[in-house]
Amino acid sequence: ATVHDQKLHRGAGGELHQFAEDGMPVLTTAQGGPVSDDQNTLRIGARGPALIDDFHFREKIFHFDHERIPERVVHARGYGAHGYFETYESLAAYTRADLFQRPGEKTPAFVRFSTVAGSKGSFDLARDVRGFAVKIYTQQGNWDLVGNNIPVFFIQDAIKFPDVIHSVKPEPDRQFPQAQSAHDNFWDFITLTPESMHMVMWVMSDRAIPRSFRFMEGFGVHTFRFVNAADESTFVKFHWKPKLGLQSVAWNEAVKINGADPDFHRRDLWQSIQSGNFPEWELCVQLFDQNFADTFDFDILDPTKIIPEEILPVKPIGRLVLDRMPDNFFAETEQVAFMTQNVPPGIDFSNDPLLQGRNFSYLDTQLKRLGGPNFTHLPINAPKCPFHNFQQDGHMAMRNPVGRVNYQPNSWNQGPRESPVQGYRHFPAEEKGTKVRLRPESFADHYSQARQFYISQTPPEQRHIAAALIFELSKVETPVIRERMVSHLLNIDETLASKVGHALGFKSMPKPADAAMPTRQDLEPSPALSIIER
Ligand code: HEM
Repeated sequence: ATVHDQKLHRGAGGELHQFAEDGMPVLTTAQGGPVSDDQNTLRIGARGPALIDDFHFREKIFHFDHERIPERVVHARGYGAHGYFETYESLAAYTRADLFQRPGEKTPAFVRFSTVAGSKGSFDLARDVRGFAVKIYTQQGNWDLVGNNIPVFFIQDAIKFPDVIHSVKPEPDRQFPQAQSAHDNFWDFITLTPESMHMVMWVMSDRAIPRSFRFMEGFGVHTFRFVNAADESTFVKFHWKPKLGLQSVAWNEAVKINGADPDFHRRDLWQSIQSGNFPEWELCVQLFDQNFADTFDFDILDPTKIIPEEILPVKPIGRLVLDRMPDNFFAETEQVAFMTQNVPPGIDFSNDPLLQGRNFSYLDTQLKRLGGPNFTHLPINAPKCPFHNFQQDGHMAMRNPVGRVNYQPNSWNQGPRESPVQGYRHFPAEEKGTKVRLRPESFADHYSQARQFYISQTPPEQRHIAAALIFELSKVETPVIRERMVSHLLNIDETLASKVGHALGFKSMPKPADAAMPTRQDLEPSPALSIIER
């Protein structure tokens, strides 16, 4: 054989494998053309001008120039892993969801953990809520349980989401601070939005600085529905309980870790999975009906409330094991598209106004972020069950209808058909009422659960909450905002309020906050209050 022959090899399908002189595959352009020189652009003479003929250089630079896609508008910094969900027992009495029918059955899953406020390059141990987004590739389509590590949320209605997020992100003129909470805009918004007080207490607690993703709980937050084969509905709240238990770092540790290793949480997940130490969570549910819901003086549709586990214990229904890191961060973790509206038959929504807004928002944001309607063609987002539809074309279409038919009904006896029996049936909830913009009375109590959360903490945990509030509020430059927060704390716990007020240099305490939602307040401190300048 000649030297030339040794460098070419035809595969079984006749494809040509080309090898470079050292035996490695030949570098090619994206069009498949072999490249002779990847070190020098094409020029007239070694010192002459570059030539537009250099299609290899042009393609390489063009592709590099377009490497970035928009980061997520929230939860930009995240880290994902593959694994599986294993069902413990049949839940047929509650839900017809296929993944909950057969004990021991495993269903593939992908999880992305995230911080909310920071940008893609921010540090892992920010005081922040953590996203806990799970995609389970069920045989009836993908189920996305897009949750957080805190069981409640800042706002009761999705229409306030742009406001809460704008207030948390860097201020628009100066583009700092990067930190979630240590600034006037965040505390201004929060203190003008008393419904956020329960969540604020969680965010000031150790929950907001977890030791690693492996030591975090996760929550679906909203009330969802299970719907069984007889179309009967049971309300359900979802909880992920880490097998390793809960652990956090202390604030001074978080500050040091952020400086020394901003990738602390990423490294932890990578190392534990690579070393075969697979993290695990149990999926637990709280199941209840309308009569049970009616026994509470809060509303189960209000996402700022929990159902205490002492009153309704959680029931473990399966486990999630993460056992494989993505091969490529961008292809999988960056391009994964979670959407609350991805639910299989047997799982349905409640009227929680935050959930309903989310169901609208996620499709919209993926369209923009992933550049068109075909993001479900990406392997990380594609279902792993058989699927058939007549959707076609659009940017980057990887699959199109095959054959003549791309509509139905058709006379050619081709293509998929709808099925009232197998298909998704929305729970036929009866709804009636007047078209209004109105917060229900049952959403009005903003302090009871904030207080219960604070009281439920151990003394060291309570000290951490006080220290976090003092640190964060000491960064707030506008006196009236600090005063307003302390006036809210008075409705939560007086000792906590006076501890914070004293540390901030208040000479006297403000009046407890009015629970009614203010939409605007004067920036003048109350005349009764005198604050020592920092
Ligand atoms: C992203 C959770 C409320 C809009 C995310 C992610 C999580 C999450 C975990 C990151 C997904 C990922 O890792 O890719 C939550 C929770 C909420 C909540 C638990 C309340 C209980 C909302 C609301 C809206 C919203 C009310 C809008 C109305 C978004 C958007 C993204 C996002 C636009 C970016 C999605 C992307 O680009 O992939 N959310 N969210 N979220 N969320 Fe939420």
